[in-house]
Amino acid sequence: MLLAEFENLLKQAMGLDAASIGSRSIARAVQKRLAECKLEGLREYWKLVSTSESERQELIEAVVVPETWFFRDREAFTGLVRIVQEDCPASRAQSPLRLLSLPSSTGEEAYLIVMALLDAGLTVERFRVDGIDISRRALALAERAVYGKNSFRGNDLDFRERYFEATAKGYRLSDHVRRQVRFQAGNLFAADFMLDVESYDVVFCRNLLIYFDRATQKRAIKILERLLRPQGVLFVAPSETGLLLSHEFISANLPLAFAFRRPSVNASGKQTEAMAQARVASLRRGRMTQPATNPKPIRAFSASALSTAISLPVIAAAGEPKMAMDEAARLADQGRFVEAAKCCETYVLKNGPSAQAFHLMGLVRDATGNHPEATTYYRKALYLDPDHHEALIHLALLMEQQGSAAGARALRDRARRVEQKHKA
Ligand SMILES: C[S@@+](CC[C@H](N)C(=O)[O-])C[C@H]1O[C@@H](n2cnc3c(N)ncnc32)[C@H](O)[C@@H]1O
Repeated sequence: MLLAEFENLLKQAMGLDAASIGSRSIARAVQKRLAECKLEGLREYWKLVSTSESERQELIEAVVVPETWFFRDREAFTGLVRIVQEDCPASRAQSPLRLLSLPSSTGEEAYLIVMALLDAGLTVERFRVDGIDISRRALALAERAVYGKNSFRGNDLDFRERYFEATAKGYRLSDHVRRQVRFQAGNLFAADFMLDVESYDVVFCRNLLIYFDRATQKRAIKILERLLRPQGVLFVAPSETGLLLSHEFISANLPLAFAFRRPSVNASGKQTEAMAQARVASLRRGRMTQPATNPKPIRAFSASALSTAISLPVIAAAGEPKMAMDEAARLADQGRFVEAAKCCETYVLKNGPSAQAFHLMGLVRDATGNHPEATTYYRKALYLDPDHHEALIHLALLMEQQGSAAGARALRDRARRVEQKHKA
């Protein structure tokens, strides 16, 4: 019995790409369940898991990564408030705003949406949040709403004083926040997944797409598109942004929020006028107003360090120590941009220029609103690897923001050709 069969089962069941968490994690989960079921060998366990739905769910519980915490990417919540205030005036009071946290894991994200909106002055009748996750165990914790230290990271914990009560078991969330969220078990890839629900104004789908391969990500994005109303807003994690852009989602132009508007197309497949207007408005807003959080450009890279790096010989992609770059990407995913940037700098100084490192350095600059440096790094990445899909997509977006529609189109065309090449 090969581990690959279990990996394949998990991919079919929940979309999981074994490479995203590593085959070893899957092997550990299988061994854990095998021991808990008191079975002798893999063959016996395979028989059970491939015929019993409840055991399949247990295996899923053993592999999921429920890691989450309050204010994972603070700016997403600042961005949410801004979108709600601009898009949903009081005239909408008759129909409450619909928001979705998918996957909600143990509930921190869904509850933080509620706290952010209450802090912004919305009354409880004006909005409703749904939290969906495949893990019933995570959802049970979400409903309990008592959180330990691990859920409160960073120093800005003022919200904890206002919305939680310290108890012997942990911090207990106020009932009026709890009541705003309805949790429900759901698998994004189930055939009947949320078929009959009214569409959402806002969907948070953060740190889920990273667990899927490209084809599965595409399926997931189609489902998310169905769940969003036209021009509804989708929030993703920093490393998931490239994906959205390659599906024609449009940046909501909120620095560091990683928010995108659903494309709305008419019957002929063209963008509607309303959509085009929204896009122009959002671009103008992006240029004419200060970022909500006034992020400081990161200065972790000195000009001299970079010029040294550029003059070093190019290292072939296959020889790159993947782990260092994985670590940098992980830090960027967590919003720890200064550390991610430092990690890339060290990497480049040690190993020489790398498309992957330059792309990530661009992403970090982009995320903090430093567009000129972001452009430079994306170009450096493309110089080293003209087929770097994400660098092509991110640079296209920047060019669009800077008003260079033709340049952006050319880059998107190149990105499409790269995709076709990979498919072939
Ligand atoms: C890392 S957490 C993300 C939580 C939160 N959105 C955040 O960004 O902090 C990933 C969650 O995805 C859930 N998940 C994985 N595959 C899923 C699927 N196919 N459908 C629904 N939820 C899924 C897992 O159970 C886990 O709780």
